[in-house]
Amino acid sequence: MAIREIVIYPADILKKKCLPVQKFDEELKTLVEDMAETMYAAPGVGLAANQVDVDAQVCVIDVAESETSDLHVFVNPEIIIRDGEIEWEEGCLSFPDILVNVHRSAKVTVRAQDANGNFFDTEAEGLFAVAIQHELDHLNGVTLANKVGYLRKKMMLKELMKIKNSRQRDK
Ligand code: NI
Repeated sequence: MAIREIVIYPADILKKKCLPVQKFDEELKTLVEDMAETMYAAPGVGLAANQVDVDAQVCVIDVAESETSDLHVFVNPEIIIRDGEIEWEEGCLSFPDILVNVHRSAKVTVRAQDANGNFFDTEAEGLFAVAIQHELDHLNGVTLANKVGYLRKKMMLKELMKIKNSRQRDK
């Protein structure tokens, strides 16, 4: 297992729809393990493959508040049922120190495959539903930058450039 570097917006890979996974091989299992480790180390509650520079429809989520982990892995996920509305102040590992209010469905059912290719459905509400919608957005090239107006986006880009530059200096 290894911690991978998290891509910061506005990297191009964050703006495009990821490719569907077709091979459920060792490489995929390693990716999933690394993504989980990277998410826990950050720490964050979700991570999409393009956030670690991999073009694949894979995301990991763990919204457990206790110390026990509750890792969910979604390969080729799609939301098949939506219900209700919820507003949540969301952060994102590709947008350090930025929070954005986003309107989401309050409940979702997602259909996905696991790392072995088996299909399953998961029902979610509250933070788990928000995290699923946030990560599926990533896999479709949609980020917090798409959830704000022109001026806020400009300010966000400025802040992110500062963070990027200071990280490069630290290397
Ligand atoms: Ni995110």
